[in-house]
Amino acid sequence: MKVLVVGSGGREHALVWKIAQSPLLTALHAAPGSTAISQLATCHPGTKATDLDGLVALARTEAIDLVVVGPEDPLAAGISDRLRDERIATFGPSAAAAQLEGSKAFSKRFMQRHGIPTAAYAVFDQSDAAHAYVDSLGRPCVVKADGLAAGKGVAMCIDAAAAHIAIDEMMSDKRFGDAGDRVVVEEWLHGEEVSYYAICDGDRIVTLAAAQDHKRAFDGDEGENTGGMGAYSPAPVVTDEVEKKILERVVHPTIVGMKKDGHPYQGVLFVGLMIDDAGDPQVIEFNVRFGDPETQPLMMRMESDFLPILDASARGTLDESSSIAWGEAAVCVVLASGGYPRGYEVGREISGLEGLNRDDSLVVFHAGTRGAASGQGFETAGGRVLGITARGDSVREARDRAYRAVDAIEFADMHYRRDIGARALAR
Ligand code: AMP
Ligand code: GLY
Repeated sequence: MKVLVVGSGGREHALVWKIAQSPLLTALHAAPGSTAISQLATCHPGTKATDLDGLVALARTEAIDLVVVGPEDPLAAGISDRLRDERIATFGPSAAAAQLEGSKAFSKRFMQRHGIPTAAYAVFDQSDAAHAYVDSLGRPCVVKADGLAAGKGVAMCIDAAAAHIAIDEMMSDKRFGDAGDRVVVEEWLHGEEVSYYAICDGDRIVTLAAAQDHKRAFDGDEGENTGGMGAYSPAPVVTDEVEKKILERVVHPTIVGMKKDGHPYQGVLFVGLMIDDAGDPQVIEFNVRFGDPETQPLMMRMESDFLPILDASARGTLDESSSIAWGEAAVCVVLASGGYPRGYEVGREISGLEGLNRDDSLVVFHAGTRGAASGQGFETAGGRVLGITARGDSVREARDRAYRAVDAIEFADMHYRRDIGARALAR
């Protein structure tokens, strides 16, 4: 099978790494890919992930059998529709189905219509009305930019004063561009946050696993929200009983509801959930693609061949009786540039990668790197730079293995969290 992976980040590096191990694979391409990904796949740096015409042309030229789309932007722009029009099997939802992530207002209305548990909310196109609403609430709330803002367009507001500032930043100062023209104000949920993943083919699902991300920049969940500073899987908060509730109350009604609404869901459904003290799940958000960095530990834990499942999702032929085999645990620690998620410098030389004792229990996934100017090794090229990912017989073993490797790696102003996986170990 000839496969094209769309994207260039740590998530795509992990997907490429996993797909590359499939005995069914005959050729592996990535667009645009990255210097690190080029060690496993033929990269097409001239074809960006948002260049729909270029991607369709590439898939035709290379006679690609399956396209696996990593990021949300091309999905929201309709890459799956374009490829399916050309009869090229595509892993990823249509533009209509991708609204589950692309518009918070769409997904909130969808959940309300189909009885899927989520925080109470209100949607505003006018800042005056939004300001008046938060004054009337009199309790903590969460203010969100409606559109795509790379996981950063969310402000947790302890009181009305904080909410006023967030609304002004989004609607008047346009901190997130057009994504903030409409805002959603919702109830602040309490509990433990978890990501749950299922592969869908429009009608059927195969469950993947739960993972836990660390969204805040600093240890102890301090600092601003980021795209994710580390992740681990499995997540002990998702017991068998909790998983059953997630499937019955959230995943199944979502697949049935999307089909009923006329846009069957194909691809990976990534549900961001809050699990309360009683073990009841509420949806924080839907994502229509794999999580980054959650995919890094998920791919390392997965023992089954993933390619037939991706392909069956794309072709609408998933076998619900097929189950995926998993190793015990995996942990990913993200090394970020100083200043991220706000401004940061790039072009810092990375040292220590060559000396790592790599076997199949430790993999360094590259998120924001490029070949170093010196011609040797890598330098930084993004906010999140590397995902040091380790497998182990327990979260503790995987975590210790990952941090041992972290200690060997260095670049100027590097910052990372020291407490990835701590919540799982404290249970
Ligand atoms: P989102 O982009 O909607 O996933 O939000 C980013 C992060 O903000 C989530 O991962 C949560 O940590 C937090 N968050 C969003 N909505 C809520 C909510 N209603 N209650 C509590 N935390 C939330
Ligand atoms: N790590 C969270 C996300 O990918 O949205």
